Amino acid sequence: MPYPFARPYLTTCGLVPENQESPIHFIEPEITSARYHFRRNHFLYPNLLSFTYWIPIRGNVERPMWISLKELYDLPSVTVSALLECAGNKRSLFEPKVFGEQWEKGAMSQGNWRGVQLRILLEMAGIQEGSVEVVVEGCDRGKRKDSAQEVSYTRSLPLEKAMHPDTLVAYAYNDRPIPFKHGFPLRLIVPGWYGMASVKWIKQIEVSAKPFTGPFQTKDYVYYPEKDSDAGAFPVTAMNVNSSILHPTDRDILSRGIHVIEGLAWSGSEEIVKVDISVDNGTSWAEAELDNDGESGYHWIRWSYEWEASHPGEFTILSKSTDASEQVQPSSPLWNRKGYGYNAVDKVKVKVE
Ligand code: MTE
Repeated sequence: MPYPFARPYLTTCGLVPENQESPIHFIEPEITSARYHFRRNHFLYPNLLSFTYWIPIRGNVERPMWISLKELYDLPSVTVSALLECAGNKRSLFEPKVFGEQWEKGAMSQGNWRGVQLRILLEMAGIQEGSVEVVVEGCDRGKRKDSAQEVSYTRSLPLEKAMHPDTLVAYAYNDRPIPFKHGFPLRLIVPGWYGMASVKWIKQIEVSAKPFTGPFQTKDYVYYPEKDSDAGAFPVTAMNVNSSILHPTDRDILSRGIHVIEGLAWSGSEEIVKVDISVDNGTSWAEAELDNDGESGYHWIRWSYEWEASHPGEFTILSKSTDASEQVQPSSPLWNRKGYGYNAVDKVKVKVE
């Protein structure tokens, strides 16, 4: 912590169920501690008795099975450093405004997830021919606003993504058991995809020969580009190329002199190759220094840019990242009715006195 006597806190969007964002501007380490990890829940927390915890792996498989925590811990494990970003991160920035949790820039956190590759479990059970998806159910359930029926939080992954070596059934976060609020004892981790795919509190894993149509798959987490119709809808999957300016903060008042503009950049599909900064609202651009130690992966990278604020006035600072597949942050986001995937060029305004 930069200053030992004052601590940042989560920002509350809602408590029932709990939805809180990370104080992203004020946490230094690359690894978000559990205390500062954002929390995104659709229902109340489930009741779990971990010592009786077994999960079934069934459906379109040769050998339906139940696996205990002990058996899972004994399988070979891998660790993936991954960023989880909620698909609704930055929703509050959409114009026109959309309904839903008004997340600002802190519905994202990252750390080291350890667990067993999902594909090891699927291979143990033997995937039958004709399978197309793997459906993962969470233990939490409740009523949605659009239906009187109780449902669980359940999502599916295309078989190819489920079999990807980095898709994990995770049991540890930053070398400790996953905290209860983040999915203890087991959660799915789908690096590169928005956070909705990473189902917490896994109850069962089912291989399916047809596409899953549950509400968290076909109603939510779908981009609806039209306000009044479902025309052009398509599913939310990988995280868009994105960046956030962390310092200075929006509407900060600065003295004249040298200031370091710094922030984060990330993309779900490729590594970040460039971050451009403008201090004149996009008239001119210069490249920021990337602090990625030559590393690629599923996590954000930090960047910084030294700016000499030589005269007083109001300045609009922009950041625009580009990834290795030449995806660039757009100047305006793809507006969509449910407010997912906001990734427009980031902007803060400051005043130099
Ligand atoms: N899994 C379950 N079982 N229930 C949920 O409500 N929310 C999803 C995902 N997995 C959710 C879930 C969403 S939308 C996000 S962004 C991430 O979990 C948030 O994970 P976190 O609360 O650990 O930050």
